[in-house]
Amino acid sequence: MNGGSAVHNGSRLNERPLPDATTAATNPVGTAVIGAGYWGPNIVRNAMALEETDLKWVCDRDEARASRLVGAQSAIRVTRDIDEVLADESVEAVAIATPPATHGALAYRCIEAGRHVLVEKPLARSYAEGLMMVRAAEERGLVLHCDHTYCYTPAVQKIRDLIDAGELGTPLYYDSVRVNLGLVQQEVDVFWDLAPHDISIVDFILGSGRELLTVTAEGADPLGLGHACVGYLTLRFDDGLLAHCHLNWLSPTKIRTTIVGGSHRMVVWNDLLPAQRVSVFESGVDLAEIDLSPGEQRRRKVSYRMGSMVAPALREREALLGVLEDWTGAIRSGTKPKTDGHAGLRVLRVLEAAQASMCNGSTPVCLGTMVAPR
Ligand SMILES: NC(=O)c1ccc[n+]([C@@H]2O[C@H](COP(=O)([O-])OP(=O)(O)OC[C@H]3O[C@@H](n4cnc5c(N)ncnc54)[C@H](O)[C@@H]3O)[C@@H](O)[C@H]2O)c1
Repeated sequence: MNGGSAVHNGSRLNERPLPDATTAATNPVGTAVIGAGYWGPNIVRNAMALEETDLKWVCDRDEARASRLVGAQSAIRVTRDIDEVLADESVEAVAIATPPATHGALAYRCIEAGRHVLVEKPLARSYAEGLMMVRAAEERGLVLHCDHTYCYTPAVQKIRDLIDAGELGTPLYYDSVRVNLGLVQQEVDVFWDLAPHDISIVDFILGSGRELLTVTAEGADPLGLGHACVGYLTLRFDDGLLAHCHLNWLSPTKIRTTIVGGSHRMVVWNDLLPAQRVSVFESGVDLAEIDLSPGEQRRRKVSYRMGSMVAPALREREALLGVLEDWTGAIRSGTKPKTDGHAGLRVLRVLEAAQASMCNGSTPVCLGTMVAPR
């Protein structure tokens, strides 16, 4: 997607002049944020803190909300009208933090107007819509980034490093619990709201070199909302790796705990324990084959390793700073972002398969049988 993504190809739809390559490397990216609800303010705060971004506008169709967010004394302009934002030539990039149903249309307008885009998870409300967004950005040489925030946390980066360095041995499973008394969403079910976090993390730390075979989802709608508030999602990979995610808006306690089991070591990531988010256990199970006398069956002996635990020091850094750095780096230097539009598409593919599984009595959906729209 990138390979010089800051370089426009002079296509007919993108009339904006190219920034000079040397100034582009040092100038902050003129930025706008659309959406000043729950998540948008976090992007605004981080964009204001980061040297690489120059926040010019906050746009929300509730303009008073945008005004309250930036404050009366701010030089950041507010509007309810995206056209006003796109008419400002100093805006090179737009971050979209509006409800998922609006992502496609808003992103498409920004891309058509020659702007780089950062879109909140989930990238779009369907794979087909996401694919259109990715293609539109690629045709115009623009960066389409997807905010899979957790992939930018020091904890997830550490777990990925441990896996890549072979410290866990062969990864065996990913098991996560993401439950709390969460905001019950009207527009999307618990899978579309919470599962993008786990799917993107699994994709980021375990996706490389293995193929996702099936997706199974089971959901419950105890409130009669018409969609699931409690969900169980299972991903099965070609090497036997199993990822399971428990998602729930109706839990009285908040739990954000993930276990990644490997043949050598196992990691427990408790995101609610800042002093010790990641614990690496030397524990595991070893199997030895015992040969019995001829005629008898071979047996396997199980032995348990109860080793020590290490809690690696992690620097505390807000993940959204990393998201914005990665996005602006891709815009200025053409570096490949960790979670680009294609990463967003992979998440959408799983979400759609989960939906299909639920519609089909929670039977496993083979990803190979899902036809990607052309
Ligand atoms: N990365 C994360 O960890 C994380 C966390 C929470 C939410 N999110 C995502 O952020 C997005 C927004 O979620 P939220 O909880 O902030 O929603 P929200 O409903 O609290 O806020 C959305 C805001 O967008 C505004 N808006 C809607 N349509 C608009 C339009 N066409 N033009 C301008 N403004 C418009 C609304 O007025 C509202 O202020 C969603 O995609 C959600 O999945 C991401």
